[in-house]
Amino acid sequence: MSQSSESMVDVEALLDAARLQVDNSRAPYSRFHVGAALWSDSQIFGGCNVENASYGLTLCAERGAVMNWAAAGAPGTPGAIAIAARGADSGEWSLAMPCGACRQVLSELPGSTELTVWIWDGTSSRSVSLLELLPHAFNAADLRSDEE
Ligand code: THU
Repeated sequence: MSQSSESMVDVEALLDAARLQVDNSRAPYSRFHVGAALWSDSQIFGGCNVENASYGLTLCAERGAVMNWAAAGAPGTPGAIAIAARGADSGEWSLAMPCGACRQVLSELPGSTELTVWIWDGTSSRSVSLLELLPHAFNAADLRSDEE
C-alpha cells in the first residue's frame, strides 16, 4: 500500500489490473499491447489501447482509464495510475512511459499534482510523479483572456 493525496492506494491490485488490461488491448498495427489502471475513490478504472487503421485515431490505454473513470461519474480524486505493456511479437513485458498526450490529459485530473505513475517493467515496478513527467503543464490558467 502506498500513501496518496486522497487515500491509501493498493499498488499491487492496481498493477494487477493494468497487467490484465494488456489482454484487452486491440493493437493489430503496432502489436504493442498496453494496459492501464487508475485508482480513485478506492476503485480501479481500467483502460487499454485501441488502435485504428487511420493511425492517428488510436487511443492510448491511460486515456481509456481516464474515460472509464469519467464515465463512472468521476468519483474521488485519482491518486495513482499503473501502466503495463507487452510486445506481441516478443511476448515480453516492456517498460512503457506514458506518452505526451496522456501526460497532458492526466495533468488535468483533480489532484494531478499528487498523482503517482507506476510502471511495470516485467520484473518490478517503479514509480514517478506526474509532476516529474510533465512540469510546467499547459492548463486552464493559460487560457485566461486579456479581453475580459
Ligand atoms: N500507447 C499507449 O497505450 N500508451 C502510451 O502512453 C504510449 C503508447 C499505445 C498507442 C499505440 O497503440 C501503441 O501503444 C504503440 O504506440
